[in-house]
Amino acid sequence: MSGMIPQRFVEDLLDRTDLAELIGSRITLKKAGANYKACCPFHDEKTPSFNVRPDKGFYHCFGCGASGDAISFLREFEGLGFTEAVEELAKRAGLEVPYDQAARQEMQQARTLTDALDYASRFYHSALAGQQGAYARDYLKQRGLDDSIIQQYQLGFAPGTGTALIDAAPKDLKAPLIETGTVSDKYGRPRDLFRNRVMFPIRNTRGKTVAFGGRTLGDDKAKYINSPESDVFHKSREIYGLHEARQALRQIDKLLVVEGYMDVIALAQHGIHYAVATLGTATNQDSLKALLRHVRHIVFCFDGDQAGYRAADKAMENALELMEDGLHLQFLMLPDGEDPDTLVRKEGAEAFEKRVAGATPLSRFLFDRQSEGLDLQLPEGRSELKARAEPLLNRMPRTTLRNGMWQEMQRLCGNQWQTRRPGQNNRGWRGEQNKRPTEARIDVKLSKDNTLCLALLEAPEMAEEIRALADSSRQLPQAGQLARWLQENNIQTRKALVAGLALDQQARERFYNLFDGLEHIPARDSTLAAARELLTPNEEAARQQRLATLLRNLATLTPEEREELRTLSGG
Ligand code: UTP
Ligand code: MN
Repeated sequence: MSGMIPQRFVEDLLDRTDLAELIGSRITLKKAGANYKACCPFHDEKTPSFNVRPDKGFYHCFGCGASGDAISFLREFEGLGFTEAVEELAKRAGLEVPYDQAARQEMQQARTLTDALDYASRFYHSALAGQQGAYARDYLKQRGLDDSIIQQYQLGFAPGTGTALIDAAPKDLKAPLIETGTVSDKYGRPRDLFRNRVMFPIRNTRGKTVAFGGRTLGDDKAKYINSPESDVFHKSREIYGLHEARQALRQIDKLLVVEGYMDVIALAQHGIHYAVATLGTATNQDSLKALLRHVRHIVFCFDGDQAGYRAADKAMENALELMEDGLHLQFLMLPDGEDPDTLVRKEGAEAFEKRVAGATPLSRFLFDRQSEGLDLQLPEGRSELKARAEPLLNRMPRTTLRNGMWQEMQRLCGNQWQTRRPGQNNRGWRGEQNKRPTEARIDVKLSKDNTLCLALLEAPEMAEEIRALADSSRQLPQAGQLARWLQENNIQTRKALVAGLALDQQARERFYNLFDGLEHIPARDSTLAAARELLTPNEEAARQQRLATLLRNLATLTPEEREELRTLSGG
């Protein structure tokens, strides 16, 4: 939406919003001092690392890095747009949003479009229940669907006459129906887009109808047709079945992404309510981002034929850039010739869910696919695998997952010497503090400067502290620069950092490229711990240093210094 809401109003609104109350009405918060804690609603976790600071008006998850204010919370958690989030907060505060003229118009417009689509959805749904819907009802029954599922997904029937909808629509909804493409006026007079079809309303996360898919009941060439894009329907942003899944489930831990409307519905009919379908090209990055706004665990389901594998490869490649720690992506390839609909009907929910549980994790899928047709017994095979896999791994952000996959590549390609084996002494990266000896460690020697830069990229809120340290030291030129840049741009969160870097090419080149020379980046936790250590004045080191100085000057010490020496040496 391009219209404007005054920034002052938004700030005022944020000030008035009790963030603990807002978030607490959606997830369970526990008070801990000035803080509230919870298990993060944005990723899967057992111990709470999600913090809410109502006094400061922000939340932050130390597990997945999610952070923001009341508006970003509503956007992420409820899938609201900016304007809708502001509306919601204004409603809570009992305020009217002072839209300017353009914004008001756009909003009314959007509302009429979804009103018209909601109307069409009701029309199709009641047509299915009516006399003319008898054949369509039989068809759905024959495909194994019962009334409650038809109800839940608001399935409908578009009569074949070609003007049923437009004729029935109230006057003021006719134009919006045309505008959304539900009715076409290409041929001089309005004509329904969907004729003699089973109708699948596509609803956004607020339950508003934004488009339709329709499956032919005859032998029409186009088995399915879909609404065109419109102001309220952007294919890559909407996820079919998500609204229904959220209604059916108290909490969504994972989503199973399938290809077709009928797959989603057949699975729901068998009690598997977490299946959704992306619209348009199933696997593009926008669709993936839309999915990731709702869950951290996604299982992609594909047909087991060649096209299915190609689509899976595409999904995997698109996912690489978005892989953060805490994300879990899996791939489920079905037997050739089956789709989830046919399979779940054949083998039942339990067997199908076993398949889902056994789906291949992204890391395995990548190496399996890339080593297909290669003989890893041969150096040629191993070097080819490396040549294929390396560019893919390079697309991933520097995460623990990437480190692990890098090691996996080295293992498969037989270059073990590049990786330290578990238990080996590792002085480079705080190896002595590693409490998980089974996890192979990577030998990384980072300078203090690099460590602090990394920490800043992980936790921009440390800018002030790190700047202070950098200002008093000559060894931290980069960290100092980065910290200054963060402060100048008032960046306090990872999100803001990403946004800030996206806008500032110079900064991007300067700071992101700092790490291009490093093959491995330690996990977030280790980075922050190391930075903490550098920031904490080290008393023992200071004592040793002072002691050495005093001892060096033993002959010329003042009485006070002799006293100090006695104290310092513990005597
Ligand atoms: P499929 O052809 O695999 O159909 O298309 P399906 O889901 O198995 O449907 P049934 O079981 O025959 O009823 C999968 C998805 O691809 C899109 C639709 O979204 C469909 O759900 N599609 C397919 C189209 O958009 N147009 C088409 O002509 C075919
Ligand atoms: Mn099918």
